[in-house]
Amino acid sequence: MTMTVEQAGLTVVDPSAYAQEQRLHEACALLRRESPVHWVDGRPDYNPFWVITRRADILEIAKNHEIFHNHPRPVLVPAAEDQRQAEQGQMLRTLIHIDDPDHKALRPVAADWFRPKTLRTMQDNVNRLARRYVDLMLERGGECDFVADVAVHYPLSVILTLLGLPESDFGRMLQLTQEIFGGDDPERRRGESPDDQIAVVLEFFAYFQGLIADRRENPTEDLASTIANARIDGEHLSDLDAASYFVIIATAGHDTTSSTIAGGMHALVTHPEQLAKLKADPSLLPNAVEEIIRWVTPVKEFMRTATRDYDIGGVTVKEGQQVLLMYPSGNRDEADFDNPQAFDISRKPNRHVAFGAGVHFCLGAQLARMETQAIFAELLPRLDHVELAGPVEGVHSTFVSGLKQLPLRYRLNQAIDA
Ligand code: HEM
Repeated sequence: MTMTVEQAGLTVVDPSAYAQEQRLHEACALLRRESPVHWVDGRPDYNPFWVITRRADILEIAKNHEIFHNHPRPVLVPAAEDQRQAEQGQMLRTLIHIDDPDHKALRPVAADWFRPKTLRTMQDNVNRLARRYVDLMLERGGECDFVADVAVHYPLSVILTLLGLPESDFGRMLQLTQEIFGGDDPERRRGESPDDQIAVVLEFFAYFQGLIADRRENPTEDLASTIANARIDGEHLSDLDAASYFVIIATAGHDTTSSTIAGGMHALVTHPEQLAKLKADPSLLPNAVEEIIRWVTPVKEFMRTATRDYDIGGVTVKEGQQVLLMYPSGNRDEADFDNPQAFDISRKPNRHVAFGAGVHFCLGAQLARMETQAIFAELLPRLDHVELAGPVEGVHSTFVSGLKQLPLRYRLNQAIDA
């Protein structure tokens, strides 16, 4: 049965469509063609909004931060959560929850850590961690779940090392990040009610408050100390701002890159000709990583609220209405990409919007690229053979989502210089 435009709009609010992406991509292709700025209404559990599916419109809105604000609804959540936030306020005040002038003041606090010059000092550490997880695949003896064994732990180890947290806390951080992002997934979330999500956020807070107190008392050379000891107009960040900073770094820096690496591996295994091409010419790796990021687009959406009427795509978005920036759709827009439904590691140019645009452009984009390159640079030369060893499963989430399970069978060699 063919999909109507109305059904395509409603697909965007169906978490299960993100676990079977073909349906999501078909819906977005239809919207791009027929209704690129489309009003989504008709689900009692979600407040209505406009979904933006063309890349040019996504960029126009993202770059127009004076008119389109992140506050008060930065991501798509069910109506019950919108209502809770309206009554009790946002529990978090991360960079994605705020607008200028606060955003302009807070973003520089951690920005130096993510510049290429600082990241170069991290390269050896990232390479060491990449080798550790590829060695672990070797120890598994030819079969593993690439998500559980590699893709989840490696980026978490990188980001927590950058923050300066002890390895003994990594397990707890992993559970909390997965619970915060897996809110729509029955196997990931803690429970069904908004109270369960609140409990997760409060646990994060309690942990980070302890860390802030410690780093103010005993400053060290890590990102945690930078955040804990930062001052704006001579004052430390408020408890809420500092704890929110930790939450965004720990969460944004983890599940996003995990999903990219797992989705990239899946794409290479299911496109053996692309894998062979990359193995034959490792100089293609930076380009391949960019294509992997476009192909996977792990962050599915962010929202903005119009602060005044604005005409776009032939309709008027009214003051106070929300727009959903649908990144996976922008990244398969026929107007901007040749053959966008093909996975092509030599794609050039590749002006994807997976990291967003404008003043909220992903702070960790360079780190994400570096991590993704390092793991494939370690893995591919050692990999003689790889195939799927069982069913592949995706996470049910309308926000950050990727694979939950990627069983692989493979032949892997020792590190070349081990
Ligand atoms: C492939 C992996 C990643 C993708 C696709 C991704 C994507 C995004 C997107 C789409 C945004 C919002 C941009 C906008 O609103 O225009 C964002 C913001 C952000 N990302 Fe990433 N991200 C990734 C990895 C990372 C990593 C490794 C970090 C490291 C900490 C990170 C930290 C952040 C932060 C702090 C923000 C908020 C920036 C702001 O609002 O000013 N991200 N990311």
